[in-house]
Amino acid sequence: MFKKLKKHIFPIAKFFFDKYIVKDRNYTYEGITVQINEEVFPPKFTISTKILLEYIKPLHITGKNFLELGCGSGIISLFAASKGANVTASDINQVAIDVLKEASITNEISLNVVYSDLFENLSDQHFDYIIINPPYYPKAPQNDKERAWFCGEDFEYFEKLFAQLPQYISPNTWMILSEDCEIDHIKKLAVKNGLTFELIFEKSVVKEKNYIFSIQKS
Ligand SMILES: C[S@@+](CC[C@H](N)C(=O)[O-])C[C@H]1O[C@@H](n2cnc3c(N)ncnc32)[C@H](O)[C@@H]1O
Repeated sequence: MFKKLKKHIFPIAKFFFDKYIVKDRNYTYEGITVQINEEVFPPKFTISTKILLEYIKPLHITGKNFLELGCGSGIISLFAASKGANVTASDINQVAIDVLKEASITNEISLNVVYSDLFENLSDQHFDYIIINPPYYPKAPQNDKERAWFCGEDFEYFEKLFAQLPQYISPNTWMILSEDCEIDHIKKLAVKNGLTFELIFEKSVVKEKNYIFSIQKS
């Protein structure tokens, strides 16, 4: 019931959210500051980014090859790089790429920032960690900003991702999803490509359950 209600509330909430984000603001985590550009997924007002940051915090990732696929503001990538990982941050949104390159300079944290549609420009690379906070509402995105939220009417984002992922998969390939999204359908699309989901972390925030899944080859 609450879940259904939230699905209807989302477009209204998004309207007010867009109104609020009338100009760029900042988000700071562990002394790292990123700009919240209105064209880019906002880590400040959403739960998923913070859950991933807290999940990554205790990990020993020094020297590990770390990919954040769809990095948005890049706060996760910058944090992982500050912990000594060799980070690649990729996104299909050119504004996100440009803003993150600037944040890398202002925070004096080095990382590899790549414009890429999923793995298109990341071929032949090996990653020890792959972190994905995907768009999951089933609607066609009208522009790059909406790609942060909408995965296509027929879940095209996931279809394409799961077709490419088996080539790159590592023991630490993680995806965060909310109970708000159609998890069972997304899992079925993964299974079609020989992938399975294992729940490794769960957290409820404001009555919304969030899950981190490890994705593995079946
Ligand atoms: C929910 S946001 C997550 C942003 C960031 N990882 C975080 O946790 O704050 C999803 C991100 O995926 C990016 N994205 C969507 N489709 C993509 C694609 N086909 N290839 C690469 N990135 C994509 C969006 O531009 C957006 O930045």
